[in-house]
Amino acid sequence: MCGIIGYIGGQNAVPILIDGLRRLEYRGYDSAGIAFFKDGALDVRRSVGKLKNLEASIQGQLLYSNIGIGHTRWATHGRPCEENAHPHRSGKFVVVHNGIIENYVPLKEKLKGLGHVFKSETDTEVIAHLIEEHAKKGGNLAAATRKALMELKGAYAVGVIGEDEPDTLVAARAGCPLVIGMGRQEYFIASDLPPILNYTNPIIFLDDFEMAVLSRDGVAVTDLKGKPREKEISTVLWNPVMAEKGGYKHFMLKEIYEQPRAITDTFRGRISPETGSVYLGEIGLSEAETRKVKKVTLVACGTSWHACLIGKAMLEELAGIPCEVDIASEFRYRRPIIDKNTLLIAITQSGETADTLAAMREARARGARTIAICNAVGSTAAREAQGVVYTHAGPEIGVASTKAFTSQLVALFLIALHLGRSRGNLDSGQVKGYLDELVKIPAKAEKLLLDTEDGIKKLAKDFFRHTDFLYLGRGYSYPVALEGALKLKEISYIHAEGYPAGEMKHGPIALVDEKMPVVVLAPKDPVYEKVSSNIEEVRSRGGKVIAIVTEGDKRLKAKADYLFSLPETIPCLSPILTTIPLQLLAYHIAVLRGSDVDQPRNLAKSVTVE
Ligand code: AGP
Repeated sequence: MCGIIGYIGGQNAVPILIDGLRRLEYRGYDSAGIAFFKDGALDVRRSVGKLKNLEASIQGQLLYSNIGIGHTRWATHGRPCEENAHPHRSGKFVVVHNGIIENYVPLKEKLKGLGHVFKSETDTEVIAHLIEEHAKKGGNLAAATRKALMELKGAYAVGVIGEDEPDTLVAARAGCPLVIGMGRQEYFIASDLPPILNYTNPIIFLDDFEMAVLSRDGVAVTDLKGKPREKEISTVLWNPVMAEKGGYKHFMLKEIYEQPRAITDTFRGRISPETGSVYLGEIGLSEAETRKVKKVTLVACGTSWHACLIGKAMLEELAGIPCEVDIASEFRYRRPIIDKNTLLIAITQSGETADTLAAMREARARGARTIAICNAVGSTAAREAQGVVYTHAGPEIGVASTKAFTSQLVALFLIALHLGRSRGNLDSGQVKGYLDELVKIPAKAEKLLLDTEDGIKKLAKDFFRHTDFLYLGRGYSYPVALEGALKLKEISYIHAEGYPAGEMKHGPIALVDEKMPVVVLAPKDPVYEKVSSNIEEVRSRGGKVIAIVTEGDKRLKAKADYLFSLPETIPCLSPILTTIPLQLLAYHIAVLRGSDVDQPRNLAKSVTVE
């Protein structure tokens, strides 16, 4: 996700834009840019990297304008570089954008056919050219912008200014947040509250498919057809720091709640449930090449390694391809059996984990094709892989990975469907069935978050002083058990172990007594009966059972000491949901223990050393 900001009023816009971008950098920091008026003409300044680079580039220059827009970028299309930095310009029109335009490729082709020359790899630049094209046919900035937005598919929050209308700032949204600050004869737009609350707190929250036209005289809100919309003005009493976390106490909790959007953004533009199609051109493999793949090896570290374990099960079930999984730091020192018929999938949120990069290079040296599932566009892993499937989770600030993990599972699911279809293991009807369930997951995750957090908070109060936890699962839930244990370990510092539930009788059950909380993942799936028996084993030894079950499960309600229900889904997508209560449990226990949740001791967000 990116951050956009805009201003029109009696003050100098430039410092307001820079200050606002500083308060939005948590949304992305690959590049930054501003556009404003200078000597009656539009001036655009952009720098790759953090905001401080843009500040340095304008240092000492007298820049004064009463209107302007700004942007700080988290790259989704096009690597981080100055050409891809926003604002994007076409003729007299300049745009900043947060979101993903799904149909930018055909629109770009159409515009090229009309003589437009593109300078960037981004989807956003298309919007500027579309506005220019519509403006040629007459109408003011607002009218041209409205017509351009009507052609877009996907998600956007935009700010637009035009050289011929120095007193007009146009903003609009569909699927991405946009707020309007209502100052005294000055008005602001922003992706989030922090940049505005420093100046004013009467706020209009724009809704999807609404447009706002800001001028010195005020703000007019309409729908995309131009029909006026009455909007409530809310007074927001948050302080700016609180607002950066969206009102959440920690980035980790905010990111847990961002998962429905991150999941949606990761499949958005890559699927057509109607036709049972998956579009993953970025994977870099032709149909013929996918048929030649004899084995897939998945490598990663930490939470991303847990995603690999789930990806293995998905690929074997949906694509019918033999899969191996390796911890990257082990893989690179083994003598792995790898050749040109091996497809190596490296999963790395940061794209900079040293062990994972080394494993990729080792596999490449042995002739394997390499794909990276990555959250950071233009990162080392993304640049070195022969194909990249980006998760669109946006920046993950909390050290403990949450939304990146569930987004990785979505990416793996799409790859499994894509390979299954291209190798003839699935027909389009089967793919359609899987996609029909995938598109329901964000709403199921949303419901789960709202239904379970209060109960999890109470549970955390009962268990935050415990010194040991066990997490058990089978099948798709075994890697989730590992992930739940890691979440608890890394932010609460409590010792926790994840185990295959079937392994308990081979030793770990000796650990179980009345002091041992045992979290058991028992969704409705082919191994449910077996897991139910494991719960009996634990209870008969006095263990406290915390069961995560599918809604309507009456049988385990009687057997568990604590029970949390989640919406039903298909086994291969269940990890996206079963993980969420475990993230919340780790979070609330850590808060009660007073840990530094976003920056736990001894850890770093990206382990760039061996
Ligand atoms: C997960 O909560 C941890 N922060 C850690 O295990 C992380 O998943 C691991 O370091 C891998 O990072 P990457 O995905 O950026 O490669």
